[in-house]
Amino acid sequence: MHILRSAAGLAALLGLAPRQFEPDSVQLFDSVTGLNYSSYTNDRHITYRVAIPDPLPGNLEYDTVLQVIAPIDVGWAGLAWGGAMTYNPLAIVWANGTNNVVVASRIAYGYYSPPAYPQANYTVLKTGTHINATHWQVTAKCSGCSKWGDDDIGFTELDPQYQVTFGFAYGNNPVDTPSSIASTFGIHDSIGHPVYDLQVAKNAGFTAKVEGL
Ligand code: HEM
Repeated sequence: MHILRSAAGLAALLGLAPRQFEPDSVQLFDSVTGLNYSSYTNDRHITYRVAIPDPLPGNLEYDTVLQVIAPIDVGWAGLAWGGAMTYNPLAIVWANGTNNVVVASRIAYGYYSPPAYPQANYTVLKTGTHINATHWQVTAKCSGCSKWGDDDIGFTELDPQYQVTFGFAYGNNPVDTPSSIASTFGIHDSIGHPVYDLQVAKNAGFTAKVEGL
């Protein structure tokens, strides 16, 4: 993201548009939740969608909505809000039985099963969350996923003015204790770094819409 930002900054200096790369994401309006998302589907047919408010506050601290849709045989799916495994908020989602899902907020300080990250909180939204015969789907609000860091290492924000690189990871094996939000799990079967255009993920009246879900 820093590299993209610098590239965008240089492009701006040269008088070029700051959003110069083709994103991997597409715009999607989901009629069930009534929100616009920036949406990306990987080779395992797992879809990761993000929705954000419009307008955004100047400090870029805002709630986001994450929607993940995965084939029923996926063990867990993760989104790294900062595009890398370590030192950024991770959302890890999995199905617990046939009618319950778990969204775990984690952060990795190394390449091992990541511990809890209390600075980001997910609220599972009833609308847009379900399990059927072929897929499980989670829609969750995140408070604390748009900005992270501290005074020492600095802050990183999701700024839709620039393209954003998220990270995805998934495991084909189930997590160790599906009923526990603190469950450990094994290493991913695959990871990726999709580029998202969040301009198309903006939603007027976001707070009220999300409260109704
Ligand atoms: C038990 C859990 C996990 C283990 C043991 C693990 C381990 C590893 C290892 C060994 C690498 C390779 C490093 C390299 O070759 O450079 C890696 C890379 C990566 N992992 Fe994990 N991982 C785990 C969970 C996760 C989760 C939950 C996410 C995201 C939600 C994630 C995202 C990534 C990404 C994006 C990379 C690519 C390198 C980077 O961008 O940092 N991993 N992981």
